[in-house]
Amino acid sequence: MKTESVNKRQTEIPVITLDGPGGSGKGTIAARLARRYDWELLDSGALYRLTALAALKKNIALDSENDLAKLAASLEVRFAVNRDISKLESLVLLEDEDVTKAIRTEEIGVAASKVAVFQKVRDALLQRQKAFKVAPGLIADGRDMGTVVFPSAKLKIYLTASAAERAKRRVRQLKDKGIGVSLPRILSDINARDARDMNRAVAPLVPADDAVVIDTTEMGVDEVEKRIIELIEGRF
Ligand code: C5P
Repeated sequence: MKTESVNKRQTEIPVITLDGPGGSGKGTIAARLARRYDWELLDSGALYRLTALAALKKNIALDSENDLAKLAASLEVRFAVNRDISKLESLVLLEDEDVTKAIRTEEIGVAASKVAVFQKVRDALLQRQKAFKVAPGLIADGRDMGTVVFPSAKLKIYLTASAAERAKRRVRQLKDKGIGVSLPRILSDINARDARDMNRAVAPLVPADDAVVIDTTEMGVDEVEKRIIELIEGRF
């Protein structure tokens, strides 16, 4: 009885999923929404990036599914509040080392998409992601939030934009973080990463059947946020 009511309470916690390719704006929007409503934020991409970074540090090959899955299951990760209130991003600690910046490089993004193709790696990270669902609610950002991790989410949004526009945004974003990159290089990484994410056998990047798809190519971030707030307020 007791367990039943805990489960019931757990299912009642609202989840909003934001899926889409890299550079579609979901990270910024997810962080803004979490701050606006004071909800928990899951940046699931960070978990794949952390797995890739830890693998590179420990010399684990990026095609070794079993070793990567063991690593993913035992990752010692902490997300801490960034004391700098102007930063939307939380601090990411891997075995107590601040890797907030290290996981954001394009190289780690590409490496993350390589480890993310493996079912066992995805399984190893699944419970960790589900544990982010706490009251009063969760904003979940990723590739398979609405399709696999939180299929019964109350509102599912799929953000997309042209690859050229996403590459431009990524260059700007990385520059703001002090990471210098070239546009043609980023565009080719984005295309390679899209192809890997969309064509993999497990949990490929696709909009959930019941997702609201928003193309942000011609939209500013404030406009996208406004549109999503309207959706949230209409749905809740
Ligand atoms: O969103 P972000 O760029 O941080 O994600 C890095 C990579 O992690 C993606 O390209 C994708 O391969 C993988 N990923 C995933 N499923 C998620 C989130 C990220 O496969 N839910």
